[in-house]
Amino acid sequence: MTQTANPAGPNKSISERADELEEQMMQTLDRVPSKSPLYTMGEIDPRVGMVRPPLKPGQHMLQGPDPRLPAMPAKPRILDFYRLRLRQGGVQHLLQSANLARKNGFPDKVVAACLLHDIAVAGFIQADHGYWGAQLIEPYVDEEISWAIRYHQALRFYPDESVGYPYPEQYIRNFGADYKPEPYIEQAYREALKHKWYMTSRQICVNDLYSFDPNVSVQLEDFEDVLGRNFRQPEEGLGFDGSPVAHMWRTLMWPTRML
Ligand SMILES: [Fe+2]
Ligand SMILES: [Fe+2]
Repeated sequence: MTQTANPAGPNKSISERADELEEQMMQTLDRVPSKSPLYTMGEIDPRVGMVRPPLKPGQHMLQGPDPRLPAMPAKPRILDFYRLRLRQGGVQHLLQSANLARKNGFPDKVVAACLLHDIAVAGFIQADHGYWGAQLIEPYVDEEISWAIRYHQALRFYPDESVGYPYPEQYIRNFGADYKPEPYIEQAYREALKHKWYMTSRQICVNDLYSFDPNVSVQLEDFEDVLGRNFRQPEEGLGFDGSPVAHMWRTLMWPTRML
C-alpha cells in the first residue's frame, strides 16, 4: 500500500502540521507577519521560541496592517472594532447582555457596561479579561463603567442572593466543582463589596449569566446609541489619540506587525 507523504514529517501532530502550513503560507507573502509570544505560549515552549525561516530575497517583515484581516479605517471608531476585530460570538454575547440589561430596565450606564464588559475576551486577551477590558476603555468611559468591568472579573465567582445571582452552573462545567478563585480574585471581591459602585459591577454579572442564547440574535445597530452616549470617541481615532491605552487599540488593529 502506498502511503501519502506527509510534508511535515511522519511524527507531527495535527496542530504542528497546521502551524507549519501557516508558516509556509506566511513565507509566500511579501511581508511576513509575526506571532507574539503570547499567541503560541503553551503550544511552543517559550524558552525555545519560534524558529522563523530566513527571509527570502526581497521579502520583509510585516510592519502594519495584516492583509489577512479586514482593513480598518484611518480613524477607527469603537464600532469599527466591534465589526472588524472582535469575534462575532463574543460580540453577540455582549449584545445579548446589554439587551437583557435594557429589557430589565437597568440604567443606561449599566447597559453600556454590559455592552463592553467582555470586550477583552471578544478581541484581545482572555486571561484576566476584566482588568484588560477595563484598561482598554478607561479613558473613554465614565469611571463607574470601567470600575464595574474591572471588578466583574472577581464578582462573577461569588454569589449574591440579594439580587438573585447564584454561582454560575456553567463555571462548575468550565472550571470543575472544586475550583477556588486565586487569592488576588478573593481580595478584589472583598474590596468590591465595600465599594460604592459594587452594585453596578454586580449588575453586569446578573445580566451576564442568562445571556448565552444561540437562538437570539441582537443587532449592533440597536446599541449604537448606547455607545454614542457612553463612549467618548477620540477625534483622531482609537489608537491615535495619544492616550495611555492608544497602543492597546493599535495592537488590536495591527496584531501581527513585527515591532
Ligand atoms: Fe466576563
Ligand atoms: Fe460575559
